[in-house]
Amino acid sequence: MCGIVGYVGPRPSQDILLAGLARLEYRGYDSAGVAVIDGEGSLGMRKKAGKLSALRDSLADAALADGNTGIGHTRWATHGGPTDVNAHPHLADDDRLALIHNGIIENFASLRDELAASGVAFRSETDTEVAAALLGREYRSNGGDLQLAFRSVVNRLEGAFTLLAMHQDHPGLVVGARRNSPLVIGLGEGENFLGSDVAAFVEHTRKALAIGQDQIVSITPDAVTVTDFAGTPVEAEPFDISWDAAAAEKGGWPSFMAKEVAEQPEAVANTIRGRIQGDQVIIPELDGLDELFTGINRVIITACGTASYAALVGKYAIEQWARVPVDVELAHEFRYRDPVIGDDTLVVSISQSGETMDTLMAVKYARERGARTLSICNTQGATIPRESDAVVYTHAGPEVAVASTKAFSAQITALLLLGLHMGRVRGTVQDAATDVEELTSLPDKVAKVLETEQEHVSQLASWMADTRSVLFLGRHVGYPIALEGALKLKEISYIHAEGFAAGELKHGPIALIEPGQPVFVLVPSPRHSALVHSKVVSNIQEIRARGARVIVVAEEGDAAVLPFADEVIRIPLAGAMFEPLLGVVPLQIFAMALATAKGLDVDQPRNLAKSVTVE
Ligand code: F6R
Repeated sequence: MCGIVGYVGPRPSQDILLAGLARLEYRGYDSAGVAVIDGEGSLGMRKKAGKLSALRDSLADAALADGNTGIGHTRWATHGGPTDVNAHPHLADDDRLALIHNGIIENFASLRDELAASGVAFRSETDTEVAAALLGREYRSNGGDLQLAFRSVVNRLEGAFTLLAMHQDHPGLVVGARRNSPLVIGLGEGENFLGSDVAAFVEHTRKALAIGQDQIVSITPDAVTVTDFAGTPVEAEPFDISWDAAAAEKGGWPSFMAKEVAEQPEAVANTIRGRIQGDQVIIPELDGLDELFTGINRVIITACGTASYAALVGKYAIEQWARVPVDVELAHEFRYRDPVIGDDTLVVSISQSGETMDTLMAVKYARERGARTLSICNTQGATIPRESDAVVYTHAGPEVAVASTKAFSAQITALLLLGLHMGRVRGTVQDAATDVEELTSLPDKVAKVLETEQEHVSQLASWMADTRSVLFLGRHVGYPIALEGALKLKEISYIHAEGFAAGELKHGPIALIEPGQPVFVLVPSPRHSALVHSKVVSNIQEIRARGARVIVVAEEGDAAVLPFADEVIRIPLAGAMFEPLLGVVPLQIFAMALATAKGLDVDQPRNLAKSVTVE
């Protein structure tokens, strides 16, 4: 939610900032802005409502004097609408100081009253301008020490924030701070960078430092200093960025989403790599941490959105293999009741970004109550893994499209691995050979679905461009996939869509079925359970009898569905726990093709941002 980039070094900063913002635009695209300290030591600023292209156009019309120190911001609006005035940066100290912000400053109203009473006039409706004004006041009152003033400001703020600031009296210096909101440092040669994530600077350096909670950083071309909020120096944790800039480019694909859907075989393969030894699943990162799994009598998986649907698949897998009860909790509901957790509970969090505030707060809450915590995350150096006892990284590579696809597949893969790993440690899985074989064959099977169904499903979607509502049904592990299919369609095509457990339909939702209503049904293989399969086929008959247009996703050779289906999408044969990774692919393609047929931007759907760092 909001992307932040900062630069100090020998090069003109504007292009570096704009390129960084282009890579961060997935975090928010309500407005964009940059501020630069030019060669004369003056601070220039430009900001525009709308996507980054509006800022670029404005800079092309009337250039801003360039310089070697700069900050840039792309916004997902919280306080104040998406206007030019509310865009960041915000200025203070007679427009000689610029500040950008990601997060929500919860005590902004009282600070604003305090500053207004001392004569400060505000231009915007944002909480950010309050922080800028406060910094201006502190800077003046301490005689011009930017770092000291910045420290005093962050100590007065409540809520979640990443802040970057610079002052024209201090060219070559950018200061930053973070609390419950992301910020990483990029280390260059004679230049340094700050970013909401490494995408901001990966084209310039692959060496990075992670900044901990409640820490302040100052960068100059040659030095990086990190302290806590009291000013005590702290050691930042170095890490290497494992992907290169090309991985975050479209590379000829019409959209990031199309590229990321196509990258799923690789995402699954990379997540499995190094975690299978012989016919066992052994996750090296969990080496020596058996007590996370042995002394527990309960698992809670917590996540939001798409990640919570991956969690539901994980529930089936972990219960089956590790024989321990698993609950799935939406992270934003979890800590607002009084959940029964303690040191006999393992709380597994799932987050692509590793920064989702709701999930982060759930992890902290779980830790405070003595639970063991493990995160499944796609972003190195992110906050959620740093707050957890253990982490299993998904290796999906950078996911830029707002709608999650390859990260979802990688999350399910990681959960399958975790279930088998836990089963081995707990002694409930004696022989994993068949499941390991299933795992290793997954990338090829996902590739096969992409190959054989891409055109068919895209055509189906283009015929349905005028559709106003689509339903999705599934049972067992097909149920979370029905939920995910509906979410994908809603978020990028703005069509009403709902996912249901197929058995639930007759308890109410079947009233929605009228002639022509499109319904996708995920049919489980009859090889796993003839009973479950036959129940789903009965559900299909029930909706068909009421005029539904039935689109079935079924395994190759399942002929039982043919008499009742208007369309059949085929997936390869796979073990019960592995089917979700195949069934989801046509639903992703369908959502993407339908949104494209409606002329919508599939990468940047309205009102959304990739990384939700507010509650
Ligand atoms: C939907 C989507 C969101 C995220 C959710 C959690 O396509 O991407 O529902 O899954 O906001 O995000 P992470 O995984 O970053 O915690």
